[in-house]
Amino acid sequence: MIFVFPNAGAIAAHVSDILIEKISSNPEVVLGLATGGTMEPVYSSFIQKAIKQQLDVSRLTSFNLDEYLGLHPSHHQSYSWYMHHHLFQHLPFNLKNCHVPSGIVDDPNNYCNSYSDAIQKAGGIELQLLGVGSNGHIGFNEPGTAFDSTCHVVELSPQTRIDNSRFFESGELVPDRALTMGMQDIMQAREIILIATGRQKAAAMALFVDNGVTTDVPFTILKKHNNAKILLDEEAAMLLSSHQYQYA
Ligand code: F6R
Repeated sequence: MIFVFPNAGAIAAHVSDILIEKISSNPEVVLGLATGGTMEPVYSSFIQKAIKQQLDVSRLTSFNLDEYLGLHPSHHQSYSWYMHHHLFQHLPFNLKNCHVPSGIVDDPNNYCNSYSDAIQKAGGIELQLLGVGSNGHIGFNEPGTAFDSTCHVVELSPQTRIDNSRFFESGELVPDRALTMGMQDIMQAREIILIATGRQKAAAMALFVDNGVTTDVPFTILKKHNNAKILLDEEAAMLLSSHQYQYA
């Protein structure tokens, strides 16, 4: 289930090919999308190929994993803005079908329930893209999150706030709460691709291979999925032994 590529660019080329293939074979596909530094080369590669091939993206549906609570969609560190900037503005998506959780709703708990319901009503997610936090979180499901959770409000861990402070002018500006799809929402996707690049993800990968399935390291749940792949660059794989992965 673990595949190592020479670098982040090679992963981006591979994953963008998969996205193109999924959308070409079913233009109404439902995708689960992630944000973060890891996904930037993936979206950039996808946009170039989609333009070249005149891919029809107007009929697909997407659900993003998460959003900071309290950030307006126009805030440059919000995940709504990220998706607009890195993907949506470049191709003729139907934005009515491209869902990013809103961080400024009056009743976040109720809103979260309706977000999980909307995924179900759309027929569930065909392909879910994931990054991983240095503490093993997926979406913003921090260590300790129940595996049967659906979309919910989370308190971000100190580690996640430190990791994400690189996107903000100062550490104090990183919101302390967020909305995230739950572990169950993620696991219900029919296919999952998790990408981890850079040496800052190496320790999380060592925890993945050294542990069974445990809420202490949330992404270990992927070991229970029947169609999940983990794609690493050489830096993220640096603490693994060569028998623990396949070189792509
Ligand atoms: C983002 C998300 C997070 C990130 C993770 C890694 O939508 O769900 O789980 O994938 O925090 O972030 P980067 O890629 O910035 O290292």
